[in-house]
Amino acid sequence: MEKPSRDAAPQAPKILPLSNAEVSSFVTRFLHRGESFLETARSCGSPLYAFDRSALHNRILDFQRAFARVMANVDTYYAIKSNNHPAIVADVVGAGLGLDVSSGTELAMALTSKAERIVFSGPGKTAEELQAAVAHSARVIVHLDSFGELERLERVAAQAGQRVRVGIRLCTGEHGIWRKFGISPDDLGRFLARAETCEHVDVCGLQFHLSWNTDPSRYEQFIARLGKILRSLAAPERSRLSFIDVGGGYWPPDGEWLQFAATPEGRTGDHEDTPAADYRRRFKQEASSIDEFARSIAEALQTHIPADMKYRVFVEPGRWICHEAMHILVTVVDRKNDDLVIVDGGINAVGWERYESDYFPVINLTRPGLTEQPCLVAGSLCTPHDIWGYSYFGEGIEVGDVLLVPNQGAYTYSLRQHFIKPPPEVVVLRDT
Ligand SMILES: Cc1ncc(COP(=O)(O)O)c(C=O)c1O
Repeated sequence: MEKPSRDAAPQAPKILPLSNAEVSSFVTRFLHRGESFLETARSCGSPLYAFDRSALHNRILDFQRAFARVMANVDTYYAIKSNNHPAIVADVVGAGLGLDVSSGTELAMALTSKAERIVFSGPGKTAEELQAAVAHSARVIVHLDSFGELERLERVAAQAGQRVRVGIRLCTGEHGIWRKFGISPDDLGRFLARAETCEHVDVCGLQFHLSWNTDPSRYEQFIARLGKILRSLAAPERSRLSFIDVGGGYWPPDGEWLQFAATPEGRTGDHEDTPAADYRRRFKQEASSIDEFARSIAEALQTHIPADMKYRVFVEPGRWICHEAMHILVTVVDRKNDDLVIVDGGINAVGWERYESDYFPVINLTRPGLTEQPCLVAGSLCTPHDIWGYSYFGEGIEVGDVLLVPNQGAYTYSLRQHFIKPPPEVVVLRDT
């Protein structure tokens, strides 16, 4: 199992100790809703993904408002890869968002969902995937990833007798593993000239994506570079560009909560035998609010993009929208010691060994309380890395207790694995 990859571009991480007060206030928020979670587990069993519809709707509204406040011309495309459960996709589309897809499978899902606006990004699109995009060209914009893909799309579109709208994906990290995405921004002029000769391809805009941002600085830097490149083009060339897609990558406002083992200091040690000793050593990387992201991006576009360009701004949030939209419920099936329990769900539900690096409180809803108890909360998969946490909040822990791991909506359900055990069912939370 693999952690979703983080953009390696330099961004000095400011990692501070996470205060117990902040953790307590987070836990309290969920204890207030404890009965609704328990009722869901009583009627539907466990393990479960609990779909929190009101959290999803509130985040969609917050996100849209933040960008609408500072820009008049924004279109939001939800990145399906962050959580592709059909009910989430349906709600997102119902709220009027477009969808960002990265494969033929995701495209098929988006088309079924009745999304009116779809962007299709990602490297190495197959002929079948391009054909599907061309067949639905009224709804789909293809973000081209390379010169080769331009030629392939032109051929496929010519065969279908269709003209297709495209964006050009610009590479944001031309060294290291992120160079597999898009073309070098320095090649934009050459790409536009080549696309001119393709009768079935209509270049309408540009796309870039920066992953895992806890503040807006890298958007500002890239937009400044893009501005210089656009200025170097002839005015008629850049006037063809009717959108700039600034991608996703906005970190949720709670910030990133880390186990000691995931800090620079912790990474050097071997914690396999001593995790419980470190259970209260956790850290936080602060994140900017979505208003700050929106304001900084708007200012950077205003400052750097040539004033003669008339364009819409596309955004492709994933994590920010769905992070709080799912929670995980598990039940204690074995209490091996005061400080060791086994629960019925395994981390195949999240698809990677998330809780060895990321910290999320495990909350005992059956014996609620704000006391934190050291305890290895392990899943029932036959691997020692099946760990939900090194402590729980509650007044004791017994077989049959229902535990909650909140805010597990992003890059968990969509990474779930049929490994040893089947992934849990998804149910809609009663109070939402
Ligand atoms: C092209 C593209 N857009 C948007 C996203 C969504 O990113 P996030 O969930 O961090 O907002 C991704 C994620 O990898 C992506 O590759």
